[in-house]
Amino acid sequence: MKTIWITGGSSGIGYAVAKKFLDNNWQVIISSSNQKKLEEAASKLRINNDNKIYSIVCDITDHKEVSKTVSKIENDISPINLALLGAAAYSPNKTQDFELNNYELLINVNLKGTLNCIDVLKDFMSGRNDHIAIISSPVGFRGMPTAGAYGMTKAAQLNLAESLYFDFKKLNIKVSVINPGFIDTESTRLNSFKMPMLKSAEYSAEKIYSGLTKKYKFEIYFPFIVVFIVKIMRILPLKIYSFIWNKLGNF
Ligand SMILES: NC(=O)c1ccc[n+]([C@@H]2O[C@H](COP(=O)([O-])OP(=O)(O)OC[C@H]3O[C@@H](n4cnc5c(N)ncnc54)[C@H](OP(=O)(O)O)[C@@H]3O)[C@@H](O)[C@H]2O)c1
Repeated sequence: MKTIWITGGSSGIGYAVAKKFLDNNWQVIISSSNQKKLEEAASKLRINNDNKIYSIVCDITDHKEVSKTVSKIENDISPINLALLGAAAYSPNKTQDFELNNYELLINVNLKGTLNCIDVLKDFMSGRNDHIAIISSPVGFRGMPTAGAYGMTKAAQLNLAESLYFDFKKLNIKVSVINPGFIDTESTRLNSFKMPMLKSAEYSAEKIYSGLTKKYKFEIYFPFIVVFIVKIMRILPLKIYSFIWNKLGNF
């Protein structure tokens, strides 16, 4: 039986992915920072899957805690074949005010937290042909209104994953990045705008499961049309890009 560790497994995409992997007979360890929320999620997942699901509280911003968690999984449960790094903070900046605290929070969780996980995982996974997958976002493809702090961390994750895709080949660790369009979760319910082609967390779990378990590929993205449009917007000249945003209206 293969083993997946999911950071941010207590809700949204991470929770749905945990369920999908359990249904496909993987051993699943979910982590998040809020103990009560994590236990509630784990007890729902435990129904019919008692011996395949574990939960370990782990605040990814704390390197020591990440190190303890990964060691516990590796030594007491099983070597990690696949790590899905999905834990993230999100706070849409509706007013477009520059708030340093918000930038610092998102850097700490989304970027520093992801780096902590990779730093610990690489030592265990080295030489084993295991797999690290980072959930980034198409918001990181290019600067967008109201998305400064979140988008910046997602752009950095994307860039990081691309670099590690090359660098970790010598460690025999596979690296992937996942770029979902709008998925209905606690985070996106904070958005005040209409999200085009909003999909369910279960839909994202299907795509992530098949993307990560079939033939190895670097980028997994869905729904195709939404992410493809953002990919096109990435290469437009700034004049056309800003014209489109002006037409879309005030955020
Ligand atoms: N939903 C979308 O439309 C969408 C689109 C593109 C990309 N994404 C990405 O997909 C991932 C999951 O997002 P989601 O929408 O499913 O969000 P979500 O439901 O809000 O889940 C976020 C998860 O991260 C955990 N978390 C937050 N801070 C943490 C910390 N310091 N340490 C450990 N865990 C922490 C949360 O649990 P605790 O509160 O218990 O810590 C929760 O389990 C994120 O990386 C997000 O950027 C989402």
